[in-house]
Amino acid sequence: MRDSAAILGRYSEPVPRYTSYPTAPHFQPDLGADLLPDMLAGITGDKRVSLYIHVPYCDRLCWFCGCHTKHTRQYAPVADYVDSLLREIALISRAVGFAVPVAQLHFGGGSPSLMRSGDFRRLSDALREAFTIDAATEISVEIDPSDVTDDTLAGLSALGMTRASIGVQDFDPAVQAAINRPQSFELTREIVASLRAIGIGSLNIDALYGLPLQTEKRLAATLDKVVDLEPDRIALFGYAHMPWLKKHQTMIRDEDLPDQGERFGQARLAEAALVAAGYAAIGIDHFALPHDTLAEAARTGTLHRNFQGYTTDACETLIGLGASSIGRFRDGYVQNIVPTATYRAALEAGRLPVGRGYRLSDDDRIRAHLIERLMCDFAVSFADLKARFGAAAAPYIAEARLIAASDADGLCRLDADRFVIPYEARSFTRIVAARFDAHLQTSAFRYSKAV
Ligand SMILES: C[S@@+](CC[C@H](N)C(=O)[O-])C[C@H]1O[C@@H](n2cnc3c(N)ncnc32)[C@H](O)[C@@H]1O
Ligand code: SF4
Repeated sequence: MRDSAAILGRYSEPVPRYTSYPTAPHFQPDLGADLLPDMLAGITGDKRVSLYIHVPYCDRLCWFCGCHTKHTRQYAPVADYVDSLLREIALISRAVGFAVPVAQLHFGGGSPSLMRSGDFRRLSDALREAFTIDAATEISVEIDPSDVTDDTLAGLSALGMTRASIGVQDFDPAVQAAINRPQSFELTREIVASLRAIGIGSLNIDALYGLPLQTEKRLAATLDKVVDLEPDRIALFGYAHMPWLKKHQTMIRDEDLPDQGERFGQARLAEAALVAAGYAAIGIDHFALPHDTLAEAARTGTLHRNFQGYTTDACETLIGLGASSIGRFRDGYVQNIVPTATYRAALEAGRLPVGRGYRLSDDDRIRAHLIERLMCDFAVSFADLKARFGAAAAPYIAEARLIAASDADGLCRLDADRFVIPYEARSFTRIVAARFDAHLQTSAFRYSKAV
């Protein structure tokens, strides 16, 4: 690969993170409500499905946050929201018609950890009635350590949580002040110990690079502490600064943000530090200890990417519950209404709270597979494309050959029967994936930086 600084300068345009293809800005209003009932009725009992439940509330507001969430000082809106989730579970259950077995159940947010134990129990009971949740079901919850009390731990136990994902971001006090997220290492260590004490076998920690006032030295110190906590997985995201979408990000001073070259250096340093600590690099932003199922999936070419990032979840069907959640089905995507009040009103009127959707074309399916393999394996095998899509694969293989032939920067190449992103160009994976994105040219949506 040529000089990475020069290449960075040339490819500074924003591109999607490809947690789906097409990406959510291409979903169409007024389409999902027609799609969802058919898609739910098409679920058969021979395959497990996965569930994602979104809890769009937090009891603090971190200025860097890009999630669909709302700051609340009171608990009443959260309890009311759980009422809505129960209604939605009942409607979905009726549409599916039987208790379909669940592979993975994930609570994301926002901060699901702010829920009280009684609400975890209400949700757990309703889910166990509507779906088959058994010993093979992985149950994970995103946790803000500052939320966790004995009551939270009781709720998580009642739910049967098997995997916890803890937000850290950065332990440096100056960085924490710049993002309005105070969180001591001691508190985090205590919560990790409490979660392990209630039998949570697997732990993920989220950290960020590219934050205001972050330097390589500060990031290295944070990662040392993260490694001390011995998480099975680490997600290390590049901070996505999109103040035009998230007003509270305007609290972050532009002059405090590392530039493109500094971000690149931080990402490189983080990878070297985590690999030296025994973690395997997974996809563009995850790390896992070799025994972890995510590392095993990466080794065996069975890693997947969905709206939560990298996953071992191979289910064709993902049902999304809660405001703004996205479901994925064989024939397309469905996203729930984003504003919580409108989401709740739909359920109170007895309607599925669908906001928008997308029906996949044959072209989308092939591009989605190709982009997912690039994001997961940094390579696409032409034999695999032919085996999956038959003669329909030919134009995409020709396109891949053309993209490789016209690349002057060493971001991709052909290697025997494969299209490959070389190791040293992996930071540019989103940019290479974007070359296969037939929708990007038509998008008015502004994404975040690729590196
Ligand atoms: C729902 S939060 C995790 C749980 C909990 N709310 C917390 O903050 O501890 C999901 C994760 O998304 C990541 N995240 C949030 N905003 C981001 C942004 N603007 N850019 C990149 N990653 C972001 C953070 O690492 C965060 O831990
Ligand atoms: S980072 Fe987590 S706790 Fe902070 S506002 Fe976002 S979702 Fe809430």
